[in-house]
Amino acid sequence: MGINLIMMASELQSLLDALSTNMRTNASIYFITLTVILIASQLARVQAQRSIFSIGSKVTDPKVGAKKKTSGIFASAADVDGGNNEDSESGDEDDVIYADDEDSRTARSEVFQSCEVGFENIQIVLQGKNKKKPDRHILDGSLKGIAKPGRMLAIMGPSGSGKSSLIHAIAGRIDGNKKITVSGQRYVNGAELAGDSPLPCAFIEQEVNFFPHMTVKETLDFRVELKLGSSLGKSARDAVVLDLLEMLGLTKSADTIVGNTKVRGLSGGERKRLSIACELISSPPVLILDEPTSGLDSYQAGQVTDFLRKLADEQGKTIISVIHQPSQSVFEKFDDLLLVSEGRLMYYGETSKIRQYLSGLGYNCFKDTGTAE
Ligand SMILES: Nc1ncnc2c1ncn2[C@@H]1O[C@H](COP(=O)(O)OP(=O)(O)OP(=O)(O)O)[C@@H](O)[C@H]1O
Ligand SMILES: [Mg+2]
Repeated sequence: MGINLIMMASELQSLLDALSTNMRTNASIYFITLTVILIASQLARVQAQRSIFSIGSKVTDPKVGAKKKTSGIFASAADVDGGNNEDSESGDEDDVIYADDEDSRTARSEVFQSCEVGFENIQIVLQGKNKKKPDRHILDGSLKGIAKPGRMLAIMGPSGSGKSSLIHAIAGRIDGNKKITVSGQRYVNGAELAGDSPLPCAFIEQEVNFFPHMTVKETLDFRVELKLGSSLGKSARDAVVLDLLEMLGLTKSADTIVGNTKVRGLSGGERKRLSIACELISSPPVLILDEPTSGLDSYQAGQVTDFLRKLADEQGKTIISVIHQPSQSVFEKFDDLLLVSEGRLMYYGETSKIRQYLSGLGYNCFKDTGTAE
């Protein structure tokens, strides 16, 4: 595209030179120059609009670190536990949808649909403070699993077991340094991600800071403008905001201020949904969430999980979420479960099979007790 623009500009420049010799009128030259600038700026704008969709090609784009196609974890996931070992078909490059020729809004919702995330041998080692203190393995390298499009993977385990560390490692959000070493393999649709390159995902932290005095709509307007301002016009951006408000059930609260612990505003569940809405602006194929239901009552927790379920079912999003003490109904909304204890993999498979798995180990769950308990 850049080369085309340069070639076009140079051709037009030659034309301009020729015309300027023939016509020798300053007014014509001014008019033609203006036209060239207008055409070039329109082309640049189209190019910018296309570039926001380029994330859809990340799985095969070497610039973002996808190295090679490999069966990797997809061959070995079945060893971890029964349950979640169907063959993956989404590693086929044909499945990647490119938005270049699509209308922007339609493309935004379609392009990011199918993204399978695999991970294995994830290890995080914290260097000991001195020679006497040994290194500490936050994750021991046994962790592996697959999060599939249209499915929800729950990550559970006791406090301090390494759940947040795991999702940060999967997302490529841990900066390795002298003190912390991160290793393991991550795959997107079968292509291995290099090093700690970021996963094309939305990451929703446990606590999200908003400007408490801004309304929900103002918050979304602001974030949409920041993320899409250079590529979408005002009316298209307004439509994105309306879509997000509706999708997250926030339309009624659009004019409510966000608030915080000191300023009264949205409820905890609404604030959580707003944080998800903000992360959905760029239509990521994968959502990673750290305890989205913590601190919410069971009704609000149910609403947040229902919404995640909707995203998985209707838009084929891949959902990975750390979840803390879920009610049985929230727990059952998840398809797959990864249990971690002291940085070690305890179970990976379908949520519906965990009871059976535990009974096999001699841990019988009481019928009336929630599985998560
Ligand atoms: N950057 C770091 N430096 C030192 N220790 C760390 C670092 N990151 C994580 N840890 C330690 O690793 C362990 C696992 O932390 P992590 O936050 O992943 O646990 P968690 O399972 O998410 O716990 P919780 O349920 O309480 O959120 C903790 O003991 C924590 O102190
Ligand atoms: Mg945590």
